[in-house]
Amino acid sequence: MDKTDLKTEAVKALEKAYSPYSKFKVGAAILTESGNLYAGCNVENVSYGLSICAERTAITRAVTSEGPTMKLREVFVANRNEQGNSIPCSPCGACRQFIAEFAIPATRIHYTGENGDVTTSMSDLLPDGFTF
Ligand code: THU
Repeated sequence: MDKTDLKTEAVKALEKAYSPYSKFKVGAAILTESGNLYAGCNVENVSYGLSICAERTAITRAVTSEGPTMKLREVFVANRNEQGNSIPCSPCGACRQFIAEFAIPATRIHYTGENGDVTTSMSDLLPDGFTF
């Protein structure tokens, strides 16, 4: 399972997006430390604040399957707008905190940047992040 495989699964997941309000489809594929893959898509709601991002959908599936010790090895976020194009889109702040909860220092996060896919780490995505 390499980055390309993960991207393929993230793109497959975005096809399932429920996004009638933004028309913006997002898919996330995560690889856990155990070597398992889980995917998720964004699920919107007419009460906009209840909408959930693809990353949080995928991570919730992983915890439900592997339990509270689940750790993230890699996250790939893919998107497609109404015109069918992939646009620069990094994880939102809520998702960065959600990813941080299950990340390890080696966790890599990939998403669509200004010039194609970028790969980053939690220390870059959420510097001085809240921990307890
Ligand atoms: N959204 C994601 O699912 N992942 C991201 O990384 C950024 C934004 C979605 C798109 C839209 O459905 C909005 O967030 C709703 O919360």
